[in-house]
Amino acid sequence: MNKIYINELKQYVGQEVTVRGWLDNKRSSGKLRFLILRDGTGYLQCIVIKNIVSEEIFGFTDELKQESSFSVTGTVREELRAPGGVELEVKDLKIIGISEDYPISPKEHGVEFLLDHRHLWLRSKRQAAILRVRHRIIKAIRDFFDNKGFTLVDSPILTPSACEGTSTLFETDYFDLGKAYLTQSGQLYAEASAMAMGKVYTFGPTFRAEKSKTRRHLTEFWMVEPEVAFADLNDDMDLAEEFLEYVVQTVLKEREEDLITLERDLTKLQSVKRPLPRISYDEAVEILKQNGVDFEWGNDFGAADETTISNQFDRPVMVHRYPSEIKAFYMKRDPENPKVALAVDVLAPEGYGEIIGGSQREEDIELLLTRLRGHNLKEEDFDWYLDLRKYGSVPHSGFGLGVERTVGWICGLDHVRETIPFPRMIYRKTP
Ligand code: 4AD
Ligand code: MG
Repeated sequence: MNKIYINELKQYVGQEVTVRGWLDNKRSSGKLRFLILRDGTGYLQCIVIKNIVSEEIFGFTDELKQESSFSVTGTVREELRAPGGVELEVKDLKIIGISEDYPISPKEHGVEFLLDHRHLWLRSKRQAAILRVRHRIIKAIRDFFDNKGFTLVDSPILTPSACEGTSTLFETDYFDLGKAYLTQSGQLYAEASAMAMGKVYTFGPTFRAEKSKTRRHLTEFWMVEPEVAFADLNDDMDLAEEFLEYVVQTVLKEREEDLITLERDLTKLQSVKRPLPRISYDEAVEILKQNGVDFEWGNDFGAADETTISNQFDRPVMVHRYPSEIKAFYMKRDPENPKVALAVDVLAPEGYGEIIGGSQREEDIELLLTRLRGHNLKEEDFDWYLDLRKYGSVPHSGFGLGVERTVGWICGLDHVRETIPFPRMIYRKTP
Protein backbone atom coordinates (compact mmCIF):
# COMPACT_ATOMS: atom_id res chain seq x y z
CA MET A 1 0.00 0.00 0.00
CA ASN A 2 1.10 3.54 -0.78
CA LYS A 3 2.21 5.66 2.12
CA ILE A 4 -0.50 8.20 2.80
CA TYR A 5 0.11 11.37 4.78
CA ILE A 6 -2.40 13.25 6.89
CA ASN A 7 -2.35 16.35 4.67
CA GLU A 8 -3.52 14.21 1.72
CA LEU A 9 -6.50 12.63 3.46
CA LYS A 10 -9.09 15.01 2.01
CA GLN A 11 -8.69 13.13 -1.29
CA TYR A 12 -9.57 9.85 0.43
CA VAL A 13 -12.94 10.63 2.01
CA GLY A 14 -15.00 7.43 2.22
CA GLN A 15 -11.96 5.21 1.59
CA GLU A 16 -9.97 2.97 3.86
CA VAL A 17 -6.40 4.11 4.47
CA THR A 18 -3.46 3.45 6.76
CA VAL A 19 -1.53 6.32 8.31
CA ARG A 20 1.46 6.27 10.60
CA GLY A 21 2.57 8.71 13.21
CA TRP A 22 2.89 9.62 16.87
CA LEU A 23 0.29 10.16 19.55
CA ASP A 24 -0.05 13.85 20.27
CA ASN A 25 -2.95 13.68 22.67
CA LYS A 26 -5.99 11.61 23.55
CA ARG A 27 -9.43 11.92 25.14
CA SER A 28 -12.04 9.39 26.09
CA SER A 29 -15.77 9.52 26.53
CA GLY A 30 -17.71 6.38 27.36
CA LYS A 31 -17.28 3.87 24.58
CA LEU A 32 -15.26 6.28 22.47
CA ARG A 33 -11.57 7.03 22.43
CA PHE A 34 -10.17 9.97 20.48
CA LEU A 35 -6.50 9.68 19.51
CA ILE A 36 -4.81 12.70 17.96
CA LEU A 37 -2.16 11.41 15.58
CA ARG A 38 0.66 13.58 14.27
CA ASP A 39 2.73 12.58 11.24
CA GLY A 40 4.64 15.76 10.45
CA THR A 41 2.22 16.88 7.75
CA GLY A 42 -0.73 17.47 10.04
CA TYR A 43 -2.88 16.25 12.92
CA LEU A 44 -5.61 13.65 12.58
CA GLN A 45 -8.39 12.80 14.98
CA CYS A 46 -8.78 8.99 15.08
CA ILE A 47 -12.00 7.71 16.61
CA VAL A 48 -11.87 4.32 18.25
CA ILE A 49 -15.31 2.87 18.99
CA LYS A 50 -15.67 -0.03 21.49
CA ASN A 51 -17.41 -3.02 19.78
CA ILE A 52 -16.10 -1.94 16.32
CA VAL A 53 -12.45 -2.70 17.12
CA SER A 54 -11.23 -5.76 18.97
CA GLU A 55 -11.18 -5.69 22.74
CA GLU A 56 -7.40 -5.84 22.63
CA ILE A 57 -7.12 -2.73 20.47
CA PHE A 58 -9.63 -0.83 22.56
CA GLY A 59 -7.63 -1.77 25.65
CA PHE A 60 -4.44 -0.57 23.98
CA THR A 61 -5.78 2.93 23.56
CA ASP A 62 -6.01 3.36 27.31
CA GLU A 63 -2.37 2.40 27.77
CA LEU A 64 -0.98 4.44 24.86
CA LYS A 65 1.27 7.21 26.13
CA GLN A 66 1.97 10.53 24.45
CA GLU A 67 4.49 10.14 21.56
CA SER A 68 3.97 6.39 21.17
CA SER A 69 4.17 5.61 17.46
CA PHE A 70 1.56 3.52 15.73
CA SER A 71 -0.10 2.85 12.42
CA VAL A 72 -3.81 3.09 12.16
CA THR A 73 -6.19 1.80 9.49
CA GLY A 74 -9.70 3.05 9.04
CA THR A 75 -12.20 4.99 6.98
CA VAL A 76 -11.71 8.68 6.25
CA ARG A 77 -14.75 10.79 7.12
CA GLU A 78 -15.36 14.40 6.34
CA GLU A 79 -15.55 16.39 9.58
CA LEU A 80 -15.37 20.12 9.04
CA ARG A 81 -14.76 20.85 12.72
CA ALA A 82 -11.65 18.62 12.81
CA PRO A 83 -8.15 20.06 12.17
CA GLY A 84 -7.60 18.92 8.54
CA GLY A 85 -11.32 18.77 7.70
CA VAL A 86 -11.36 14.96 8.09
CA GLU A 87 -11.22 12.33 10.81
CA LEU A 88 -10.55 8.60 10.81
CA GLU A 89 -12.89 5.87 12.04
CA VAL A 90 -10.48 3.24 13.25
CA LYS A 91 -10.66 -0.46 12.29
CA ASP A 92 -7.18 -1.55 13.19
CA LEU A 93 -4.25 -0.14 15.11
CA LYS A 94 -0.67 -1.42 15.40
CA ILE A 95 1.90 -0.19 17.84
CA ILE A 96 5.26 0.60 16.27
CA GLY A 97 7.16 2.05 19.23
CA ILE A 98 5.90 2.42 22.79
CA SER A 99 6.77 5.72 24.46
CA GLU A 100 7.94 6.06 28.03
CA ASP A 101 6.57 8.92 30.08
CA TYR A 102 7.25 11.81 27.72
CA PRO A 103 9.11 14.63 29.46
CA ILE A 104 7.33 17.45 27.62
CA SER A 105 3.69 17.65 28.65
CA PRO A 106 1.12 20.19 27.51
CA LYS A 107 1.80 22.19 30.70
CA GLU A 108 4.22 25.12 30.61
CA HIS A 109 7.93 24.32 30.85
CA GLY A 110 10.83 26.69 31.44
CA VAL A 111 12.86 27.54 28.37
CA GLU A 112 16.08 25.96 29.71
CA PHE A 113 14.23 22.68 30.25
CA LEU A 114 12.85 22.86 26.72
CA LEU A 115 16.29 23.66 25.27
CA ASP A 116 17.78 20.67 27.14
CA HIS A 117 15.10 18.60 25.40
CA ARG A 118 15.40 20.36 22.06
CA HIS A 119 15.59 16.99 20.27
CA LEU A 120 12.05 16.32 21.52
CA TRP A 121 10.78 19.91 21.65
CA LEU A 122 11.03 20.00 17.83
CA ARG A 123 7.92 17.78 17.76
CA SER A 124 5.69 20.56 19.07
CA LYS A 125 3.30 22.34 16.73
CA ARG A 126 4.97 25.67 17.26
CA GLN A 127 8.55 24.49 16.70
CA ALA A 128 7.54 22.56 13.59
CA ALA A 129 5.83 25.69 12.23
CA ILE A 130 9.02 27.71 12.81
CA LEU A 131 11.15 25.09 11.05
CA ARG A 132 8.82 25.07 8.06
CA VAL A 133 8.98 28.86 7.82
CA ARG A 134 12.78 28.65 8.10
CA HIS A 135 12.87 26.13 5.28
CA ARG A 136 10.68 28.36 3.10
CA ILE A 137 12.86 31.40 3.84
CA ILE A 138 15.96 29.46 2.77
CA LYS A 139 14.25 28.29 -0.39
CA ALA A 140 13.09 31.83 -1.19
CA ILE A 141 16.64 33.11 -0.67
CA ARG A 142 18.05 30.56 -3.09
CA ASP A 143 15.25 31.04 -5.63
CA PHE A 144 15.76 34.80 -5.60
CA PHE A 145 19.45 34.64 -6.46
CA ASP A 146 19.14 31.65 -8.79
CA ASN A 147 16.40 33.42 -10.78
CA LYS A 148 18.62 36.46 -11.13
CA GLY A 149 21.50 34.52 -12.63
CA PHE A 150 23.71 34.38 -9.54
CA THR A 151 25.95 31.33 -9.11
CA LEU A 152 26.09 29.65 -5.71
CA VAL A 153 29.72 29.32 -4.62
CA ASP A 154 30.51 27.39 -1.45
CA SER A 155 33.15 29.04 0.70
CA PRO A 156 35.37 27.14 3.12
CA ILE A 157 34.50 26.74 6.79
CA LEU A 158 38.12 26.28 7.94
CA THR A 159 39.95 29.49 7.13
CA PRO A 160 43.44 30.90 7.72
CA SER A 161 42.40 34.36 8.97
CA ALA A 162 39.72 36.71 10.29
CA CYS A 163 37.14 38.50 8.16
CA GLU A 164 35.02 40.31 10.74
CA GLY A 165 37.53 41.26 13.44
CA THR A 166 39.78 39.06 15.52
CA SER A 167 37.78 39.14 18.76
CA THR A 168 35.16 36.56 17.76
CA LEU A 169 37.30 33.85 16.16
CA PHE A 170 36.96 30.17 17.02
CA GLU A 171 40.35 28.61 16.60
CA THR A 172 41.55 25.07 16.17
CA ASP A 173 44.92 23.37 15.64
CA TYR A 174 45.51 22.54 12.02
CA PHE A 175 48.13 19.77 11.67
CA ASP A 176 51.58 21.23 10.88
CA LEU A 177 50.10 24.46 9.55
CA GLY A 178 49.44 26.20 12.84
CA LYS A 179 45.98 27.56 13.59
CA ALA A 180 42.83 27.47 11.52
CA TYR A 181 39.68 29.43 12.28
CA LEU A 182 36.01 28.67 11.77
CA THR A 183 34.76 31.11 9.18
CA GLN A 184 33.01 34.30 10.35
CA SER A 185 31.81 35.05 6.82
CA GLY A 186 32.29 33.70 3.30
CA GLN A 187 32.65 37.21 1.92
CA LEU A 188 36.34 37.26 1.01
CA TYR A 189 35.86 34.07 -1.01
CA ALA A 190 32.67 35.47 -2.54
CA GLU A 191 34.71 38.47 -3.72
CA ALA A 192 37.23 36.18 -5.42
CA SER A 193 34.38 34.24 -7.02
CA ALA A 194 32.58 37.41 -8.18
CA MET A 195 35.72 38.30 -10.13
CA ALA A 196 35.33 34.93 -11.85
CA MET A 197 31.57 34.82 -12.45
CA GLY A 198 30.21 38.35 -12.01
CA LYS A 199 27.32 37.64 -9.64
CA VAL A 200 27.66 35.02 -6.92
CA TYR A 201 26.38 34.13 -3.48
CA THR A 202 27.70 31.97 -0.70
CA PHE A 203 25.29 30.34 1.71
CA GLY A 204 26.43 28.38 4.71
CA PRO A 205 27.09 28.22 8.42
CA THR A 206 29.26 30.93 9.93
CA PHE A 207 30.74 31.16 13.40
CA ARG A 208 31.34 33.92 15.92
CA ALA A 209 32.76 33.35 19.37
CA GLU A 210 30.29 35.98 20.57
CA LYS A 211 30.56 36.76 24.25
CA SER A 212 27.12 38.38 24.06
CA LYS A 213 24.15 36.66 25.67
CA THR A 214 21.49 38.57 23.78
CA ARG A 215 18.32 37.49 22.04
CA ARG A 216 19.99 37.99 18.65
CA HIS A 217 23.34 36.24 19.05
CA LEU A 218 24.26 32.68 18.22
CA THR A 219 27.80 31.31 17.99
CA GLU A 220 26.83 29.32 14.88
CA PHE A 221 24.41 30.85 12.40
CA TRP A 222 23.63 30.71 8.71
CA MET A 223 24.39 33.57 6.41
CA VAL A 224 23.69 34.21 2.73
CA GLU A 225 26.16 36.58 1.09
CA PRO A 226 25.67 37.88 -2.45
CA GLU A 227 28.60 39.64 -4.10
CA VAL A 228 28.39 41.58 -7.37
CA ALA A 229 31.18 42.89 -9.61
CA PHE A 230 30.76 46.45 -10.95
CA ALA A 231 28.16 47.27 -8.27
CA ASP A 232 28.32 50.32 -5.99
CA LEU A 233 26.59 50.99 -2.67
CA ASN A 234 23.35 52.13 -4.35
CA ASP A 235 23.23 48.97 -6.46
CA ASP A 236 23.81 47.00 -3.26
CA MET A 237 20.86 48.70 -1.54
CA ASP A 238 18.65 48.16 -4.62
CA LEU A 239 19.48 44.46 -4.48
CA ALA A 240 18.91 44.22 -0.72
CA GLU A 241 15.44 45.81 -0.87
CA GLU A 242 14.26 43.72 -3.81
CA PHE A 243 15.58 40.63 -2.04
CA LEU A 244 13.87 41.37 1.28
CA GLU A 245 10.55 42.12 -0.40
CA TYR A 246 10.74 38.83 -2.31
CA VAL A 247 11.61 36.74 0.73
CA VAL A 248 8.96 38.23 3.02
CA GLN A 249 6.15 38.26 0.43
CA THR A 250 6.93 34.69 -0.66
CA VAL A 251 6.88 33.37 2.89
CA LEU A 252 3.69 35.28 3.62
CA LYS A 253 2.03 33.66 0.62
CA GLU A 254 3.42 30.14 1.03
CA ARG A 255 3.46 29.68 4.82
CA GLU A 256 0.57 31.82 5.99
CA GLU A 257 -0.86 28.88 7.93
CA ASP A 258 2.32 28.49 9.97
CA LEU A 259 2.53 32.23 10.60
CA ILE A 260 -1.03 32.08 11.92
CA THR A 261 -0.08 29.15 14.19
CA LEU A 262 2.69 31.42 15.50
CA GLU A 263 0.14 34.20 16.03
CA ARG A 264 2.17 36.53 13.84
CA ASP A 265 0.60 39.89 13.02
CA LEU A 266 0.54 39.51 9.22
CA THR A 267 -0.11 43.19 8.52
CA LYS A 268 3.42 43.92 9.79
CA LEU A 269 4.81 41.68 7.05
CA GLN A 270 2.44 42.85 4.33
CA SER A 271 4.01 46.31 4.46
CA VAL A 272 7.48 44.99 3.59
CA LYS A 273 7.44 46.40 0.06
CA ARG A 274 9.82 48.47 -2.00
CA PRO A 275 11.00 51.16 -1.69
CA LEU A 276 12.56 50.69 1.73
CA PRO A 277 13.55 53.95 3.44
CA ARG A 278 17.25 54.87 3.15
CA ILE A 279 18.78 57.12 5.74
CA SER A 280 22.39 57.98 6.49
CA TYR A 281 24.05 57.23 9.82
CA ASP A 282 23.98 61.00 10.43
CA GLU A 283 20.22 61.08 9.93
CA ALA A 284 19.86 58.07 12.23
CA VAL A 285 21.83 59.91 14.92
CA GLU A 286 19.47 62.86 14.43
CA ILE A 287 16.49 60.55 15.04
CA LEU A 288 18.10 59.33 18.28
CA LYS A 289 18.64 62.88 19.47
CA GLN A 290 15.06 63.87 18.65
CA ASN A 291 13.98 60.91 20.78
CA GLY A 292 16.02 62.08 23.72
CA VAL A 293 18.84 59.55 23.37
CA ASP A 294 22.23 60.83 24.46
CA PHE A 295 24.32 59.54 21.55
CA GLU A 296 27.79 60.52 20.46
CA TRP A 297 28.65 60.56 16.74
CA GLY A 298 31.16 57.80 16.00
CA ASN A 299 29.69 55.14 18.27
CA ASP A 300 27.97 52.02 17.03
CA PHE A 301 24.24 51.69 17.62
CA GLY A 302 23.22 49.44 20.48
CA ALA A 303 20.10 47.26 20.36
CA ALA A 304 18.00 49.97 22.03
CA ASP A 305 19.23 52.60 19.54
CA GLU A 306 18.37 50.35 16.60
CA THR A 307 14.88 49.90 18.02
CA THR A 308 14.38 53.65 18.39
CA ILE A 309 15.50 54.19 14.79
CA SER A 310 13.47 51.36 13.28
CA ASN A 311 10.34 52.38 15.24
CA GLN A 312 10.07 55.39 12.93
CA PHE A 313 9.23 53.10 10.00
CA ASP A 314 6.68 50.41 9.11
CA ARG A 315 9.22 48.39 7.11
CA PRO A 316 12.95 47.64 7.27
CA VAL A 317 15.15 50.73 7.11
CA MET A 318 18.54 50.91 5.39
CA VAL A 319 21.10 52.92 7.30
CA HIS A 320 24.13 53.80 5.21
CA ARG A 321 27.49 55.55 5.57
CA TYR A 322 28.60 54.53 9.07
CA PRO A 323 31.78 55.94 10.62
CA SER A 324 34.60 53.91 9.06
CA GLU A 325 36.27 53.47 12.45
CA ILE A 326 33.56 51.06 13.61
CA LYS A 327 33.36 49.07 10.39
CA ALA A 328 35.38 46.23 8.83
CA PHE A 329 38.73 46.71 7.07
CA TYR A 330 37.45 45.84 3.58
CA MET A 331 34.82 48.59 3.39
CA LYS A 332 35.47 51.42 0.96
CA ARG A 333 35.47 54.92 2.38
CA ASP A 334 33.16 57.49 0.89
CA PRO A 335 35.30 59.60 -1.50
CA GLU A 336 33.09 62.58 -0.56
CA ASN A 337 33.63 62.10 3.17
CA PRO A 338 36.41 59.67 4.13
CA LYS A 339 35.22 59.65 7.77
CA VAL A 340 32.40 57.33 6.70
CA ALA A 341 32.39 53.96 4.99
CA LEU A 342 30.17 53.01 2.04
CA ALA A 343 28.41 50.57 4.35
CA VAL A 344 24.77 49.69 4.83
CA ASP A 345 22.96 47.93 7.65
CA VAL A 346 19.33 46.96 7.25
CA LEU A 347 17.38 47.22 10.51
CA ALA A 348 14.23 45.13 10.75
CA PRO A 349 11.10 46.70 12.23
CA GLU A 350 9.56 45.93 15.65
CA GLY A 351 12.91 45.99 17.42
CA TYR A 352 14.44 43.02 15.58
CA GLY A 353 17.57 45.02 14.81
CA GLU A 354 20.23 44.45 12.17
CA ILE A 355 19.43 41.62 9.77
CA ILE A 356 21.74 42.66 6.91
CA GLY A 357 25.24 44.11 6.92
CA GLY A 358 26.87 45.05 3.65
CA SER A 359 29.11 47.49 1.82
CA GLN A 360 30.97 48.55 -1.26
CA ARG A 361 34.44 47.01 -1.00
CA GLU A 362 37.77 48.86 -1.17
CA GLU A 363 39.13 48.06 -4.62
CA ASP A 364 42.37 50.05 -4.36
CA ILE A 365 45.32 47.96 -3.19
CA GLU A 366 47.18 50.78 -1.40
CA LEU A 367 44.13 51.88 0.56
CA LEU A 368 43.33 48.26 1.41
CA LEU A 369 46.88 47.75 2.74
CA THR A 370 46.50 50.84 4.93
CA ARG A 371 43.21 49.46 6.29
CA LEU A 372 44.74 46.05 7.03
CA ARG A 373 47.52 47.67 9.03
CA GLY A 374 45.01 49.93 10.79
CA HIS A 375 43.11 46.83 11.92
CA ASN A 376 46.32 45.07 13.05
CA LEU A 377 45.78 42.32 10.50
CA LYS A 378 48.81 40.58 8.99
CA GLU A 379 49.38 41.41 5.34
CA GLU A 380 50.69 37.93 4.54
CA ASP A 381 47.42 36.37 5.70
CA PHE A 382 45.64 38.33 2.98
CA ASP A 383 48.09 37.82 0.08
CA TRP A 384 45.53 36.03 -2.02
CA TYR A 385 42.82 38.60 -1.24
CA LEU A 386 45.15 41.44 -2.22
CA ASP A 387 45.73 39.68 -5.55
CA LEU A 388 42.11 40.49 -6.43
CA ARG A 389 43.17 44.16 -6.41
CA LYS A 390 46.22 43.46 -8.60
CA TYR A 391 44.64 41.64 -11.49
CA GLY A 392 41.88 43.77 -12.92
CA SER A 393 40.36 45.21 -9.75
CA VAL A 394 36.80 46.55 -10.16
CA PRO A 395 34.30 48.29 -7.90
CA HIS A 396 32.17 45.64 -6.24
CA SER A 397 29.66 45.28 -3.43
CA GLY A 398 27.75 42.73 -1.44
CA PHE A 399 25.97 42.05 1.80
CA GLY A 400 25.24 39.31 4.30
CA LEU A 401 21.82 38.38 5.66
CA GLY A 402 21.62 36.38 8.88
CA VAL A 403 19.06 33.61 8.45
CA GLU A 404 18.20 33.21 12.14
CA ARG A 405 17.52 36.88 12.78
CA THR A 406 15.36 36.90 9.67
CA VAL A 407 13.43 33.83 10.83
CA GLY A 408 13.00 35.44 14.25
CA TRP A 409 11.61 38.61 12.74
CA ILE A 410 9.32 36.96 10.19
CA CYS A 411 7.95 34.53 12.79
CA GLY A 412 7.72 37.24 15.46
CA LEU A 413 9.82 35.31 18.03
CA ASP A 414 11.50 36.88 21.00
CA HIS A 415 14.79 34.97 20.79
CA VAL A 416 16.92 33.46 18.00
CA ARG A 417 17.30 30.23 19.99
CA GLU A 418 14.02 28.96 18.49
CA THR A 419 14.95 29.81 14.88
CA ILE A 420 17.48 27.01 14.25
CA PRO A 421 16.95 23.30 14.95
CA PHE A 422 19.86 22.96 17.38
CA PRO A 423 21.04 26.38 18.62
CA ARG A 424 24.64 27.03 19.65
CA MET A 425 25.13 29.83 22.14
CA ILE A 426 27.89 30.88 24.50
CA TYR A 427 26.36 28.77 27.30
CA ARG A 428 24.93 25.92 25.23
CA LYS A 429 26.37 23.29 22.89
CA THR A 430 23.93 20.44 23.53
CA PRO A 431 21.91 18.51 22.44
O1 4AD B 1 27.25 42.45 9.73
P1 4AD B 1 28.00 41.15 9.57
O2 4AD B 1 29.06 40.85 10.55
O3 4AD B 1 28.56 41.19 8.07
C1 4AD B 1 29.40 40.28 7.50
O4 4AD B 1 29.74 39.23 7.97
C2 4AD B 1 29.76 40.65 6.10
N1 4AD B 1 30.96 39.90 5.73
C3 4AD B 1 28.60 40.38 5.17
C4 4AD B 1 28.91 40.75 3.73
O5 4AD B 1 29.01 41.91 3.44
N2 4AD B 1 29.08 39.77 2.89
O6 4AD B 1 26.95 39.96 9.57
C5 4AD B 1 25.90 39.92 8.63
C6 4AD B 1 24.62 39.47 9.29
C7 4AD B 1 24.11 40.39 10.37
O7 4AD B 1 23.40 41.49 9.84
C8 4AD B 1 23.22 39.46 11.17
O8 4AD B 1 21.97 39.29 10.52
C9 4AD B 1 23.97 38.16 11.09
O9 4AD B 1 24.81 38.23 9.96
N3 4AD B 1 24.77 37.92 12.29
C10 4AD B 1 24.41 37.11 13.30
N4 4AD B 1 23.31 36.35 13.49
C11 4AD B 1 23.23 35.61 14.62
N5 4AD B 1 24.20 35.57 15.56
C12 4AD B 1 25.32 36.32 15.41
N6 4AD B 1 26.27 36.25 16.34
C13 4AD B 1 25.46 37.12 14.25
N7 4AD B 1 26.42 37.96 13.78
C14 4AD B 1 25.98 38.43 12.59
MG1 MG C 1 27.01 43.97 11.05
